[in-house]
Amino acid sequence: MAIIISLFNHKGGVSKTTTAFNLGWMLARYGKRVLLVDCDPQCNLTGMVLGLEDMETAESILGTKDGRPLNIREGLAPAFESRPSLIEAVVCPKVPGNDKLWLMPGHIGLAEYEVTLGIAQELSGSLVTLRNLPGSLRYLIDKTSAAYGIDIVIVDMSPSLGAVNQNLLTTSDLFIVPMHPDYFSTMAIKSLTSVLPKWKAWADAASANSVLRDAEYPFPPKSPKFLGYVVQKYRPRAGVPSKAFQTWINQLEDGVANIFIPALEKCKMMLSSDIYINAGYDPNQPILQMPDFNSLIARSQEHQVPIFELTAAQMEQVGSVLASSQASQNNFKELFKVAAERTIRVVDAIGA
Ligand SMILES: Nc1ncnc2c1ncn2[C@@H]1O[C@H](COP(=O)(O)OP(=O)(O)OP(=O)(O)O)[C@@H](O)[C@H]1O
Ligand SMILES: [Mg+2]
Repeated sequence: MAIIISLFNHKGGVSKTTTAFNLGWMLARYGKRVLLVDCDPQCNLTGMVLGLEDMETAESILGTKDGRPLNIREGLAPAFESRPSLIEAVVCPKVPGNDKLWLMPGHIGLAEYEVTLGIAQELSGSLVTLRNLPGSLRYLIDKTSAAYGIDIVIVDMSPSLGAVNQNLLTTSDLFIVPMHPDYFSTMAIKSLTSVLPKWKAWADAASANSVLRDAEYPFPPKSPKFLGYVVQKYRPRAGVPSKAFQTWINQLEDGVANIFIPALEKCKMMLSSDIYINAGYDPNQPILQMPDFNSLIARSQEHQVPIFELTAAQMEQVGSVLASSQASQNNFKELFKVAAERTIRVVDAIGA
């Protein structure tokens, strides 16, 4: 079965989607079959993959083709709209330019299921008519990844503490917390420290609840573990973060090491320490620390390829400007490779 990695931070704009796309692509370059799942009703990941202009005409917006679901909302519709049919795999387009990477397109209408799922999760099985909802997301992801022989699923989430995110996080196998080096991310660590243990306690109770366990789509007994945190978009000076950014990075590291990880340890959301050691990193430090992509981010979005696969022609630069961009690009590539290697070692360790 595929290993599901969710990218979560209720704070917006901290590079969840950018990390999902670039890391997912890199994992596929290492030979893993990877499915990107766009669970954000903003559909930024879908736009990034299919092209922002093509989004409005994208086939996936239609919902179904020959009766088969083309996006996540349509995939969930049998459960949420009490249709007599069973949930089936979503038809996922292959991501252009990478033959081991697929996308489960998002849909703005996923937001409409948020309230119903919230009620189903609050009542945790006492309302029998809603019993199929809490297990339906993971069921759909598993069903779809089985159809494509997927090894690793990357779930991109919206910036919220809503029911869909609670569900996705607690039914994933691993989670990554993306952050930016700023004041708001240090605040976010504090709220995540209080929220995640509550979600875990809820999920433990839900998976032990007989109504949810015996549902058509049983709520799975999962124990999501912290894969690591990502710090994106710092401004480097002479190859290292400038002083102002380093101050924020230090604060993030302090918050993670002294508040966040101890809370996760208490509720069993950390992997055993030998898994991190064998994967070659310390979870108190970022699994990936990435400088600002500067002008390359715009080119990456324009051409729908990750930063590290932009060609010289796509960068539209020449001479020394191009040489300097390519040097940065190589650096970005190395950093994503290291993060992908660490991820693969953990995935292989827990999947074995
Ligand atoms: N390393 C980086 N360098 C430069 N720009 C970046 C970098 N990482 C992300 N960005 C930019 O920052 C913005 C926010 O990134 P992104 O959309 O990935 O965040 P997000 O957490 O998914 O946001 P949301 O919470 O809205 O889903 C985007 O415009 C993205 O292009
Ligand atoms: Mg996003």
